[in-house]
Amino acid sequence: MPARKITVVGAGHVGEVCAQRVAEKELCQEVVLIDIVDGIPQGKGLDQWQSAPVEGFDTRVVGSQEYGPAEGSDLFIVTAGIARKPGMSRDDLLRTNAGIVRSVGREIARVAPEAVVIVVSNPLDVMAYVMKEATGFPRERVIGMAGVLDTARFRAFIAMELDVSVQDIQALVLGGHGDTMVPLASYASVSGIPLTQLVAPDRLEALIDRTRNGGAEIVGYLKTGSAYYAPSAAAVQMAEAVVKNQRRILPAAAYLDGEYGERGIYLGVPCKLGEGGLAEIVEVDLTSDEEAALARSADHVRATMAGLEGS
Ligand code: NAI
Ligand code: 2OP
Repeated sequence: MPARKITVVGAGHVGEVCAQRVAEKELCQEVVLIDIVDGIPQGKGLDQWQSAPVEGFDTRVVGSQEYGPAEGSDLFIVTAGIARKPGMSRDDLLRTNAGIVRSVGREIARVAPEAVVIVVSNPLDVMAYVMKEATGFPRERVIGMAGVLDTARFRAFIAMELDVSVQDIQALVLGGHGDTMVPLASYASVSGIPLTQLVAPDRLEALIDRTRNGGAEIVGYLKTGSAYYAPSAAAVQMAEAVVKNQRRILPAAAYLDGEYGERGIYLGVPCKLGEGGLAEIVEVDLTSDEEAALARSADHVRATMAGLEGS
């Protein structure tokens, strides 16, 4: 198996399915599922392990409230956090989740100082920054998951529009995770055929809009929570690229140090992922409109980061 141990922090909707996907893909010998709620990670971990004889995987799944079992993990997927509750402002949520991610980051640095961390908790780009600060890890080893999910949504909508297989569709969504994300129509194609030749401009705009609102559309249906099947698939694809040293180019939130004209923030950009995490940030040509949209997205991330002050 490619890794010895992968730990998923947060055994809620996204975390539990991440653990299951990692185990079923046999990406490591052992998956550790951690949560603060008594019994939940232990129960879900044991239940998943009991599916192993049926599904035929040998990856052990264990649940814990402590970080002892996570010691020496090769990789962490962090999904811990809370959802916004009535009466809670966005800033309250930001600060609460920042506190959670900070405490998780300190534990990760203590038990697995060489690990790669994939952050999922929202608001994603800012939580990835908080994780980097809390662990003290270099940018190569702290990356955020959003672009794979946003791109998957775009690809799914394109497949529905054209009635073609998702397998032939390539697309790229950059920027922060949220309303300001930047789906790049010029980089979308079906078996190499530019999407702009296959879809009329007004329909293309509608697909881009639906992608931007992809998370909200699911919340609108579920009402009590947000998406987790596609998010967990996306996080595990990134984990697989790292532990198998696949050197895949995937859109992910990376700490920028001058790339795309930005510095000191996390933003979704094309990343080469392999052993050790981020191997390279790939800079692609953008139209002036796309450049402006990416800059607006970066400003939005910076404005959200400002809400961390004093927390
Ligand atoms: P959830 O509420 O089902 O699960 C969150 C879990 O975190 C709960 O089980 C909770 O007990 C646990 N938790 C809270 N504090 C903790 C701590 N200090 N240590 C360990 N566990 C802790 O939420 P869900 O649906 O799993 O989403 C998780 C996070 O991922 C949310 O912040 C959500 O907004 C975000 N998300 C991000 C996506 C992205 O594209 N980046 C996509 C989907 C979700
Ligand atoms: C999503 O895009 C909630 O960030 C989450 O589904």
